[in-house]
Amino acid sequence: MAPKQRYLSGIQPSGMLHLGNYFGAIRSHVASQDDGFYFIADYHALTTTRDAETLRQLVFDAAADYLALGLDPQRAVLFRQSDVPEVTELTWLLMTTTGMGLLERAHSFKDKKARGITPTMGLFNYPVLMAADILIYDSHVVPVGPDQVQHLEMTRDMAQSFNAYYGDVFVLPKFELGTPELVPGLDGEKMSKSYGNAIPIFATGKALRKLVMSIKTDSTPLEDPKDPDSCTAFAIYRLFASPEEVAEMRENYARGGYGYGHAKVALLEQIETYFAEARERRVELQNNPDLVHDVLADGGVRARQAARRVLDRARAACGL
Ligand code: TRP
Repeated sequence: MAPKQRYLSGIQPSGMLHLGNYFGAIRSHVASQDDGFYFIADYHALTTTRDAETLRQLVFDAAADYLALGLDPQRAVLFRQSDVPEVTELTWLLMTTTGMGLLERAHSFKDKKARGITPTMGLFNYPVLMAADILIYDSHVVPVGPDQVQHLEMTRDMAQSFNAYYGDVFVLPKFELGTPELVPGLDGEKMSKSYGNAIPIFATGKALRKLVMSIKTDSTPLEDPKDPDSCTAFAIYRLFASPEEVAEMRENYARGGYGYGHAKVALLEQIETYFAEARERRVELQNNPDLVHDVLADGGVRARQAARRVLDRARAACGL
C-alpha cells in the first residue's frame, strides 16, 4: 500500500554538496524521511556529465553523503533513478500530452541557453523526466529548494493535461520549501557550486577555515557597531545557531568592538560541531563502499515495484 502522504525528492549527483543544498533541501529530506522516496537523479545528470566513471563516482558520493547526513534506509527508500527504467517510458507518455510552450518557458532551460550552452533534447525535456519521477510514485509532497519550484508547477501542469485526456491517472503533487530564503554564498550572492562561492558540507580543517574567513564583509572598523542584517557571515550563522546564540550575536554586532573576524570564528565552530557526526559516518562509508551499494540495490527493487503499478495504470488509460 502506498502511504497516505508520500514524500519524494530527487538529488542531483553534482559532486559537492554545500550549505545551500543542506538548508535548501537535504535537511527537510532527512526530517520528513519516513516512507519517503529519495533518488539520485543519474538520468538527469546525463544532460551535463559526459564521462561514465565520473558519473558513477558522483552517484556513489551523493548516496554516501545522504546516508552520512542522516537518511536511514530502514525508514526511507534511497535509490538510483536509472534502476527504475519505467520512468523513461512514463516520460514518453507525458511528452505526448505536454505542450512545447510549457517547456520553452522553463527558467533552467532559458538560463542555460542564455549562457551559450547548445541545448540537447535531454536538456529541453528535463522537466518532463522530472515530472515522471514524481508522478510514477503517486507522490504527494515534494520537498525541494526554491530553484525547483517552477519545475514542480510544470509537473502539476503535465499531470493535469494527462488527466484531462485520460481520466484520473495521476496524483497532483504539492511542493514544500526547505529554507524559504536563499542561503548566501561567500560573496553574498546565492550559494551555488557554479558561482564558486560555496561552502561544502564536508570541507574540514584548514580548507573550511579558509573559506569561512573569506566571506565577504564590509569595511566597518572593528570598534563600530555593525548591522547584522546586511552581513553574510551573520546570515549563515543564523542557520546553525540556537535562537539564544543568534540574539547574542546580534547584540555583539550592535554594541561595536566586535569584528567580523570574531563572527566568522564563531560560525566556523558552529559548522564544525553541527556536521561532526556526519563527517565521521561519511568516512566510514567511504571505507565500506558496499554498504552504500547494498542500500541502493535494495532501494531500487522497492521503488521499481511502486513505479510499475502507476506505469501500468497510465498505459492502460491511454490504450497501450
Ligand atoms: N531537478 C532537481 C534538482 O536540480 C533534481 C530532481 C530530479 C528532482 N528529479 C526530481 C527533484 C524529482 C525533485 C523531484 O535539484
